Amino acid sequence: MIVVTGATGNIGRPLTQALAGAGRQVTAVSRHAAAVPNGVRHVMADLAEPAGLKPALTGAKSLFLLLSGDLHAAGANPADIIAEAAACGVRRVVLLSTLGVVTRPFGSTRIAMRELEDTLRESGMEWAILRPGGFASNALWWAESVRTRQVVAAPFGDVGVPIIDPADIAAVAAACLLEGQHAGGVYELTGPEVITPRRQAEAIATAMGSPVSFHELTRDEAKAGMSQSMPAELADDTLDILGSPNPAELRVSPDVQQVTGRPPRTFADWAAHNVAAFR
Ligand SMILES: NC(=O)c1ccc[n+]([C@@H]2O[C@H](COP(=O)([O-])OP(=O)(O)OC[C@H]3O[C@@H](n4cnc5c(N)ncnc54)[C@H](OP(=O)(O)O)[C@@H]3O)[C@@H](O)[C@H]2O)c1
Repeated sequence: MIVVTGATGNIGRPLTQALAGAGRQVTAVSRHAAAVPNGVRHVMADLAEPAGLKPALTGAKSLFLLLSGDLHAAGANPADIIAEAAACGVRRVVLLSTLGVVTRPFGSTRIAMRELEDTLRESGMEWAILRPGGFASNALWWAESVRTRQVVAAPFGDVGVPIIDPADIAAVAAACLLEGQHAGGVYELTGPEVITPRRQAEAIATAMGSPVSFHELTRDEAKAGMSQSMPAELADDTLDILGSPNPAELRVSPDVQQVTGRPPRTFADWAAHNVAAFR
């Protein structure tokens, strides 16, 4: 049995689907009740309370571990989740980390994530670590303004990074969970090309078949909006990356192709698959 945390999110949904489609027994974990694919067991649990994961983890051989951004802020210790998994007999863990642990190794959340990577390496379980850059699904921040005003409002309109479709992260995670040869693998995951917010807006317009305009926000305007849904430190970190990506953040990684045998999807592919969110 394979346990998927974050199972109802951008990565977890396609991952759960892929594992169930491969004929595996899957337990999907999230805090809220949710519809899951046929045959998948859903368990409600909060990662901030690792002991509560026992009903999900008992009998599991493998775990996909995705931590929500606010877990450290909530004072939780994610290392306890790894200890709980080992105590329940889990043998293989695939951890969703972030490219930021390499490209910007300072800052409290990335230091904590690097420490968690080290805890997993030393756990005695088999492991793989996924380090994705920015997600294509961050464009869902624009869904409401596109729906209501046909506008994408974002800072740094002409500065791009090689954002990744979360479905590709899911595909890599599925391979790491299902195939033994990825033990000890550390994968940096990006999309196939650097793409700017202005070009993302164009791709959304193409997917919709109707015009979408682009409005460039100042950094302060963007921070004010982002601070409503994330800590100010994280908003500043994210804006630093979006406004001044360093060479490591601009690099297109071969790892999705290497693990899955096919190139990563473009942002245009993501927009076409997710166009309903913008209508
Ligand atoms: N966005 C980016 O550009 C980016 C870049 C690098 C890394 N990341 C990492 O990617 C992860 C987000 O992935 P995603 O986009 O697939 O997530 P998402 O779409 O935001 O979904 C989050 C999932 O986790 C569950 N969840 C949230 N808090 C939980 C908790 N305390 N206990 C149990 N389940 C919880 C949610 O369900 P419930 O709400 O029902 O619990 C949901 O299933 C984060 O760890 C983030 O740091 C993101």
